[in-house]
Order: sequence, then C-alpha cells, then structure tokens
Amino acid sequence: MTRNELKALAISMLDRAYCRYSHFPVGAALECADGSVYTGCNVENAVYPAGICAERNAIFHAVAEGHTDFVRIVIAGHSDDYCVPCGICRQVMQEFAPELEVICLNKSGEEKTFALKELLPYGFDNRWLPQES
Ligand code: THU
Repeated sequence: MTRNELKALAISMLDRAYCRYSHFPVGAALECADGSVYTGCNVENAVYPAGICAERNAIFHAVAEGHTDFVRIVIAGHSDDYCVPCGICRQVMQEFAPELEVICLNKSGEEKTFALKELLPYGFDNRWLPQES
C-alpha cells in the first residue's frame, strides 16, 4: 500500500470513531512488515478510562491477527495541529516497533512524520525486566 493509500485509510476510519464524549474522532492505519494493514478508531465509554485510542485499537487488532512486526502508522485527527499519539500509545508502539515511523495528520490531511524514538526517548522495554535463565 502506498503512503497516500495508508493516509486515506486512516482518514476513512474517522467515520468509525465512537467518540460521543470527547467529540474528537481519531482514525489509524498500521502497516506491518509483510505489507498487511490494520485499522483502528477511538472507542469511548461512559466510564471514561474504559475507552481506547485509535492507535492502540489498530495495534491490538494486528496483534490479535498474529502480526507484531510494524513499519509505520498513520494517525488522523480533526485537529488544527497534527494529531500525535498519547503517552500510553507511544509505550505500546515501543513494545513492538521501536523503529516505527509515526505519521500524524491534521484536519486538512497535512502530515508531520516522527520516528517513535523522537516521541518516546528512553522508552521502557523488557530489557529492564529480570531475564529468564
Ligand atoms: N485519542 C486517540 O484516539 N488518539 C490520539 O492520538 C489522541 C487521543 C482519542 C482518545 C479519546 O477518545 C479522544 O481522542 C480525546 O482524547
């Protein structure tokens, strides 16, 4: 899939967002190393913390389908500024794809691209955990 196709897919996911509390739709499209693509949107809940961001929705969707090797993600938001991922989503990205390319769109579809390392320097990962022997 081309970069523009991935962007269009993320933008199309804005229509699927369930965001009746924030009224801030977000769409995401995630490309895996084998070229497969998974999408997500934010899904909110009357118990606010039970909701999930579009990016994590896309990543968990991919993992549930057996994919953990991610190359790039597009995040589309209805904001003037580029829709950047929240801290929790950055940490989830770090788990699977520390080299991930993160393409953030504003409401006009313009993009700003980051390396995940820029967004989450010194991210925690399993190297800090006790190693199995
Ligand atoms: N949200 C996302 O889905 N991704 C982001 O990058 C930023 C925030 C969602 C969470 C919540 O449903 C709404 O946007 C407002 O925070």
